[in-house]
Amino acid sequence: MSRLIVVSNRVAPITEGEPTAGGLAAGVLDALKQQGGIWFGWSGEVSDDTAAPAHLERSAGPITLYTIDLSRRDYDGFYRGFANGTLWPTLHYQVGHAQFDWDDFDAYRRVNALFAQALARVVRPDDMIWAHDYHLLCLADNLRRLGLRNRIGLFLHTPFPAPPLFMTIPAHAELIQAMCQFDLLGFQTDDDRTSFADYIRRQAGGVEMDAGVLSAFGRTVKTGVYPIGVHVEEVRHLAAAPSHHRYAARLHDSLLGQPLILSVDRLDYSKGLRLRFIAFERFLEEFPQHQRNVVFMQIAPPSRGDIEAYREIRRELEAVAGRINGRFAEVDWTPLRYLNRGFARSALMPLYAEARVGLVTPLRDGMNLVAKEYVAAQDPNDPGVLVLSQFAGAARELEAALVVNPYDQVGVAAALDRALAMQQGERCERHAAMLGVMRRNSLDAWRDRFETDLRGGVNLQRGMAEAEACSQPPETVVPSTLPLYDPQP
Ligand code: G6P
Repeated sequence: MSRLIVVSNRVAPITEGEPTAGGLAAGVLDALKQQGGIWFGWSGEVSDDTAAPAHLERSAGPITLYTIDLSRRDYDGFYRGFANGTLWPTLHYQVGHAQFDWDDFDAYRRVNALFAQALARVVRPDDMIWAHDYHLLCLADNLRRLGLRNRIGLFLHTPFPAPPLFMTIPAHAELIQAMCQFDLLGFQTDDDRTSFADYIRRQAGGVEMDAGVLSAFGRTVKTGVYPIGVHVEEVRHLAAAPSHHRYAARLHDSLLGQPLILSVDRLDYSKGLRLRFIAFERFLEEFPQHQRNVVFMQIAPPSRGDIEAYREIRRELEAVAGRINGRFAEVDWTPLRYLNRGFARSALMPLYAEARVGLVTPLRDGMNLVAKEYVAAQDPNDPGVLVLSQFAGAARELEAALVVNPYDQVGVAAALDRALAMQQGERCERHAAMLGVMRRNSLDAWRDRFETDLRGGVNLQRGMAEAEACSQPPETVVPSTLPLYDPQP
């Protein structure tokens, strides 16, 4: 059987017993354990030796972890510069935060070429290569230049924006041409896939054939929608395991019976934290009966702290959180608990189970696995309510959540009031509908469908028949009996 080679900027720990960094790592690890293979990526280290990047190889069972360091120059230009200063904000529709520099784009090209050269040394002709995310849009192009004809796929964890937004990146044409060197491009939602196809049709002179197959730049590339999921049973197990309840028990005792609204996000401007805090303030104003009767806890581990936009959002949040607590706190009640730290998954899932409301309001998000984990962590007989941004990829599947517009503070405030008042019957009904969708679109299903399509997709370059055989659209269960939530108060 051919080996699977996973390439991502970050790699997860592969030692048994160590926590994995979220659903993606767990899903990819499962696949690698089953069939063996290599996980390739950045070590997270910045090396001063700019001449030759250090390589590290480490094996655990059938998996070999292969990492390289980045030079300071490449870290600045590739990671801080083009990947997170240009692509990340643009892909999330936050062009106001985007900046562009051709030197940074050179570094992005250089690091994609570096990854390709290091990979080419270990890849065998029948290996299947699965790249992840926006750091590696030029990887297949570089591998093809080195003569590799392997099946190469990319799954984009972020959104892909409408063409006019993507075209604000001066290097947009080169990026798209490079992306067409993959055999399979996977997106989180149909909106993302459609945006990419629109670009190909309107800007690149390409054509869309049946079943998501695009033809452009003399290549045929298959595109598909693969909503990433979670291991539902594993999350519930972690949430309910008494051994992991140290933090949850302390939290529970401190609430004194008050319901908890919980949000968990990397400290990132795309997550909509500032507007969320303001919506909570609006909620306390509009519904004063909740004052002294509810606690909102925001867990926000700092992220990418050496990029100015991230330092700025951190300063803003400190100011808004301070204002809200200064304005509403009582001697025995603090409305907003703001924690700049992360928790291990095993400790986090019981915290989700403790929350009466999961508040997930990104301005734009590829999927948002916090929303899915929150639902999976609930007790099915007495579940909490998910309040979810319409701009998270998860909203395409979790239609039974209270879906809100994160830019509408009055709407979010009304949804919080409604969530806190919701009767058990309706909570159970909505929860069951969401769980049904999530069981169907599980993490295993995500991985299996992508791998199956990638195996078939290589034949696109030789003939269409086999590709069409594996091009069925994803099967999702859409709850149709529940009333749509009207966010107007
Ligand atoms: C998002 C991206 C990932 C990235 C993660 C953490 O989830 O889609 O590719 O690894 O954020 O960001 P960082 O910059 O710390 O890797």
